[in-house]
Amino acid sequence: MRFLTAGESHGRGLTIIVDGVPAGLEIDGAAIDADLRRRQLGYGRGARQRIERDGARITGGVRQGRTTGAPVALWIENRDAVNWERVMSTTPVTEAPDAVTRLRPGHADLAGALKYGHEDVRDVIERASARETAARVAAGGVARALLRVVGVDILSETIRIGDESAAARFDRGAIEASEVRCGDPEASGRMTSAIAAARDAGDTLGGVIAVRASGVIAGLGSYAQWDRRLDGRIAQAVVSIPSAKGVEFADAFDAAGERGSRVHDPIERRGAGFGRPQNRAGGLEGGVTNGEDVVVRVAFKPISTLMKPLPSVDLRTGEAAPALVERSDVCVIPAAGVVAEAMLGLVLADALCQKFGEDTVGDITSAVARYRERLKPIADR
Ligand SMILES: Cc1cc2nc3c(=O)[nH]c(=O)nc-3n(C[C@H](O)[C@H](O)[C@H](O)COP(=O)(O)O)c2cc1C
Repeated sequence: MRFLTAGESHGRGLTIIVDGVPAGLEIDGAAIDADLRRRQLGYGRGARQRIERDGARITGGVRQGRTTGAPVALWIENRDAVNWERVMSTTPVTEAPDAVTRLRPGHADLAGALKYGHEDVRDVIERASARETAARVAAGGVARALLRVVGVDILSETIRIGDESAAARFDRGAIEASEVRCGDPEASGRMTSAIAAARDAGDTLGGVIAVRASGVIAGLGSYAQWDRRLDGRIAQAVVSIPSAKGVEFADAFDAAGERGSRVHDPIERRGAGFGRPQNRAGGLEGGVTNGEDVVVRVAFKPISTLMKPLPSVDLRTGEAAPALVERSDVCVIPAAGVVAEAMLGLVLADALCQKFGEDTVGDITSAVARYRERLKPIADR
């Protein structure tokens, strides 16, 4: 299962194609919209989220509520587009829009303008914008529908904003009730205050999210080739989220400073199978899922657009000029967690299809049942 997206931040909307979706999968548009809504919430978001009320229209690959095996196509309208018709017109307009030339540090502006030869940085901004993450969440909704069929559930939690942190508890009710998606109410309050203080100072904050997939079948991914290792594929997927700069499985950066005797998870018999008294591997050994929860943490840098702009250069004149200031969020960590859920879901759904087939949901559930039968004698020893 793979996906592609197209569309600009202030264009008409976002197009999403999810290819390789097995036939017979029930698609609940309301569940996809609920995730889109979760991406828009969170203390620290800017005015854009008050304009957009994202919802995905399914335009292909689904009939009578079920996938047909054809690519699933989705469309998310940008409500804000009405305010940008002239600037974003796909055909030339008589009065050309003003070019954006004051480069914003921390954004793709300079690198993108150099790479594609743009003289109006608007041509970079529009596609590099994290508006594209709405499309990822919609695609992720399709992946998550498949994962739910085999009992996999994904949830993220904010564990750090600025220098305020908390341990992940993965208590869904508490997380969804928190404005910053942190299940510890006391830490959630501190994080909210930190965002308010940064906003008052015209500044921005980053942080760390943890994302967990539970109910994961052992044996997804492979150690046989570098590009089949699932930890590597997950890392690529989550670090591709705009502003994501670091990834670790479980608490890998702490574990790197400890002795092996503490870090590795002992193997024990548990019921009709195997268990681990701890999960510091984050559910992956040798690039293969080991049956424990997959736990990934992702570090996000502070938002690049500052209300007190950094020194920069005007691309047209070459003169020093403060960076462009556009309407912007102060902190996007709660939203980033929802995007990370989608990306983890897409990689796991793809790995599931690789192992168990991608033609029909029935083929997959039968193959999973057969696989579980195959594992039984080992577990029964
Ligand atoms: C959900 C989400 C929303 C974002 N919103 C903004 C924003 O409002 N302003 C901003 O400057 N950056 C925002 N970003 C981050 C930028 O898109 C990102 O820093 C930029 O595209 C450069 O990419 P890089 O940081 O990965 O190098 C957001 C990121 C995410 C995940």
